[in-house]
Amino acid sequence: MTVQINPSILSADFARLADEAQAVKGADWLHVDVMDNHFVPNLTLGVPVVESLSRATSTPLDCHLMIEDPDRWAPQYVEAGAGSVTFHVEAAAAPVRLAREIRAKGARASMALKPATPIEPYEDLLPELDMLLIMTVEPGFGGQKFLDIMLPKIRRTRELISRHGLELWLQVDGGVSAETIERCAEAGADVFVAGSAVYGTDDPAAAVRSLRELAET
Ligand code: DX5
Ligand code: ZN
Repeated sequence: MTVQINPSILSADFARLADEAQAVKGADWLHVDVMDNHFVPNLTLGVPVVESLSRATSTPLDCHLMIEDPDRWAPQYVEAGAGSVTFHVEAAAAPVRLAREIRAKGARASMALKPATPIEPYEDLLPELDMLLIMTVEPGFGGQKFLDIMLPKIRRTRELISRHGLELWLQVDGGVSAETIERCAEAGADVFVAGSAVYGTDDPAAAVRSLRELAET
């Protein structure tokens, strides 16, 4: 399994996004949290910012949409330059159709599950996806405590992926840090989002390197 580290710009300085993207040069993707103040009780940024950011960095953008009606909005994030678009299954009206549309437009299609949402009802959807995101905190804010109780869900999801012989990536997001990343990797995650554990340090690029080392061991 190839480890990927995706710093979340939610913990970056929003007035200096281009510089903040440069500061994590060795990162695999830049994780962009889009929040609409309806699906989650917080508001961040939208299509125009993603469009500018995609021009400002060569690191591909991993857009995590914590918004209502992703069926309507997700395709616009592909057009804005996102290389991967994640919608929440709790918010999508037609997840299969949406995943197909994201792929047809040329991005990787990904689906997220909130902590209380089980994976089992969505087993048949897995072949439609390039990545599955298991939230390890309640979505909405950075800097929350990692929910250890999500580890069995990560493990079960990895088993399902293997059983179906699928290639899809398994991403974890929320409270991922030097203290928790090894547990996530051991449970079967291979794509790690880290906000405060990267941008909350003096040397974000070094934080990316050490998180990668921990996940690879
Ligand atoms: C939370 C966001 C996360 C957030 C993670 O809803 O989806 O991407 O930035 O931040 P940390 O790593 O600080 O928990
Ligand atoms: Zn996120």
